[in-house]
Amino acid sequence: MTHNTPPHAGLTGGPVYLDYNATTPVDPRVAEAMLPHLTRFFGNPSSDYRYSVEPRSALAHARAQVAALIGARADEIVFTASGSEADLFALRGAVLASGRRRPHVITQVTEHPAVLESCRALQRLHNARVTLLPVDGDGLVDPAALTEALDEDTVLVSIMAANNETGALQPIGELAARTRAHGALFHCDAAQTAGKIPLDVTALGVDLLTLVGHKMYAPKGVAALYVRDGVRLEPVVYGGGQERGLRAGTENVAFAVALGAAAQLAADELAGGAAVRIEALRDDLHRRLADGLPGRVRLNGPRQERLPNTLNISIDGVAGHRLLAAARAVAASTGSACHSGAHTPSPVLTAMGLDAGRALGAVRLSLGRWTTGDDIAKAATALTDAASARAGATASDRDSTPRDAGITVDGTGLLCVTLLLKLRDRIQGAAPGTVVHIIATDPVAPLDLPAWCHMTGHHYLGPVPGDDRPVYAVRLASSERRTRPDRPWHRYESGH
Ligand SMILES: Cc1ncc(COP(=O)(O)O)c(C=O)c1O
Repeated sequence: MTHNTPPHAGLTGGPVYLDYNATTPVDPRVAEAMLPHLTRFFGNPSSDYRYSVEPRSALAHARAQVAALIGARADEIVFTASGSEADLFALRGAVLASGRRRPHVITQVTEHPAVLESCRALQRLHNARVTLLPVDGDGLVDPAALTEALDEDTVLVSIMAANNETGALQPIGELAARTRAHGALFHCDAAQTAGKIPLDVTALGVDLLTLVGHKMYAPKGVAALYVRDGVRLEPVVYGGGQERGLRAGTENVAFAVALGAAAQLAADELAGGAAVRIEALRDDLHRRLADGLPGRVRLNGPRQERLPNTLNISIDGVAGHRLLAAARAVAASTGSACHSGAHTPSPVLTAMGLDAGRALGAVRLSLGRWTTGDDIAKAATALTDAASARAGATASDRDSTPRDAGITVDGTGLLCVTLLLKLRDRIQGAAPGTVVHIIATDPVAPLDLPAWCHMTGHHYLGPVPGDDRPVYAVRLASSERRTRPDRPWHRYESGH
């Protein structure tokens, strides 16, 4: 497969960029398409004079381009300002429009926080009940588990097409068919999938689908929600009636044009075999690493049902963040999050059953439009050299990770008391002053850590900002006050 794309100015002279799942450079052709809408065409697309003609037709064209990428109709596309907004719009929109007193939403544990946190808010603010489906060791949902979870109150199922960390491709067609046969709506977060592999909303049978500009060579700050004709949603922004009354606000024409141009380019590239080229490079990288580090490279996520651009691996004997710190010639990401110097394993990998050591060893290498064979050779050498140099450093890697940094509490509808009992077990013997990070793998788990800290003498440091599921930091006190005479802490907690 030939690669005719000229080098990107933003990438020349820098480390090999292998983080296309985090964000993509804007394609210069996309920038070129949007530029006149910043420099010349300024009219409000809803106005009636000459200045509005070009913006209005550009917006319509962009909508048609986005629709064409996913086999939709132009009037089924609603532009939004981010993927997170599109996800919120789908979830909240469907739940509120259902008019149910106690709406039930089903999603799964490895969703992006944009979905999980929206579910949490629906539960908190709109009396929704949320079921989180588990995943298997590859990160895949079992369709039979979905069938079991569907009940008479289920209004919406939201399952991502591909996971951002592992590239795992969920069986969307099957899941959507079961959902719709049950009479509920199906939303699919395809932020990572649109443009990387062919997608057709009709073939998949989805009702709602999110796609995101900055994952497909358009700028950050533009995305779209596909809303199948006939699906009723509560608007996400109220006001002037733009976007079929579903998302008010004068349209961001330049960014919509960018998304349209990006969608058109993605369709052209897919037709030209881009996915095959990228997959071959990805597998070459995997092979080179496996050859260079015999017996140490382990793939996280499915081998087959996977985005063609994504390689998530753990290399035995080295923590992901240390590997990438040592391999300066490569820009990639770990699955873990770093908060105040402590590393916590990715909730996605944890939900797949990976132990904390392997999850902390994970690196995500994601390829894209400008990745070349030379990049792969360079990245493989840099990573192999760094991992070889760090082979003997395993012990110190482990020592630098707080002993209980991997505390993860899982399960739907978990009681506080269970969480806190687990937590207490895990911190026994930990040094005073250690900062413990607690990940709620169930985003709706009713954590009441501040109260527990108050009871036990530990210091609640608060939620730690991050882009994964909620993480809370606690600094351990010198000794735990196990109980107050009047109220054992676990009883106190379970009362909340
Ligand atoms: C799967 C998935 N959904 C949603 C989003 C959120 O998109 P945005 O950054 O535009 O809000 C992302 C971005 O990381 C993503 O990977």
